[in-house]
Amino acid sequence: TRKIIIDTDPGQDDAVAILLALASPEELDVLGIVAVAGNVGVHQNAINARKVVELSGRTDIPVYAGCSRPMRRHLVTAEHVHGETGLNGPDLPEPTIPLQAQHGVDYIIETLMNAEPKTITLCTLGPLTNIAMALVKQPAIAERIQEIVMMGGAYFEVGNITPAAEFNIYVDPEAADVVMRCGAPITIQPLDVTHMIQSTPARLAAIKAIGNKSGQAVHDMLTFSESFDLKKYGWDGAPLHDPTVIAYLLQPDLFEGRHCNVAIETASELTVGMTVVDYWHVTGRAYNATYFRSGNAEGFYKLLTERLARLP
Ligand code: BDR
Ligand code: CA
Repeated sequence: TRKIIIDTDPGQDDAVAILLALASPEELDVLGIVAVAGNVGVHQNAINARKVVELSGRTDIPVYAGCSRPMRRHLVTAEHVHGETGLNGPDLPEPTIPLQAQHGVDYIIETLMNAEPKTITLCTLGPLTNIAMALVKQPAIAERIQEIVMMGGAYFEVGNITPAAEFNIYVDPEAADVVMRCGAPITIQPLDVTHMIQSTPARLAAIKAIGNKSGQAVHDMLTFSESFDLKKYGWDGAPLHDPTVIAYLLQPDLFEGRHCNVAIETASELTVGMTVVDYWHVTGRAYNATYFRSGNAEGFYKLLTERLARLP
């Protein structure tokens, strides 16, 4: 079993990622979930994370709140996609499990420092503020991280919040820059992959047909968040982002990409938050990431549907 910490701003697609992880206890041991400011504010994201944990029946999973704003910029949120609660769609009860008292950044540092080196993977589904702040506060964590698997960035499919930038990187580009330079192994699931993993009506119907509470909730969540993306792209189904991070840990052969250098634009007004991917190795910059550019949608939805069926 692989030990993971999920850093997230749930978010319907974050919620599906959390459910996929919690439905896979043989492969993944979810040590904790840390909320970060992103889709909505950190307080609401921490409430949403606890709602999802309760939906899965895993009330033993501790939920922490991390940073409430990016390192140097004003917070940009995405209610236009996710709704005013960040998790519109299903009717989930208010959470009863408590929020942990410890700050999420300190939880990340403490957990990494107390574990054997390279035994904990960080799964990041939102802006990278908490991870960057942890690296700044305790740089020694960098060599103790097994892997950082992130949903973020775009190269071949360019941006979704600006023409050049993907949302998670755009919200806190300085944090993304700190993370990309930290030296830990990094694996990236960008829009190039998530735009291939579309939640078509047939795939959503199959999830609803599982017939459990979680399948119904996932159907309702994605139906809500789709309404924005379907209009925007005009495709059969909307992209599905964050669950690709967990799917990679469960079934890495669903994705294809290469080892290369990825750098973050932090200076330009026009392209701030752009992930500059040296996919064709045209510079001598050291490789710092595995960058995926395609994913197997059929295989992904088969995995997701099978796993959701194991939940309440
Ligand atoms: C990312 O932005 C968020 O709105 C989604 O949850 C996902 O993490 C996609 O760009
Ligand atoms: Ca997210």
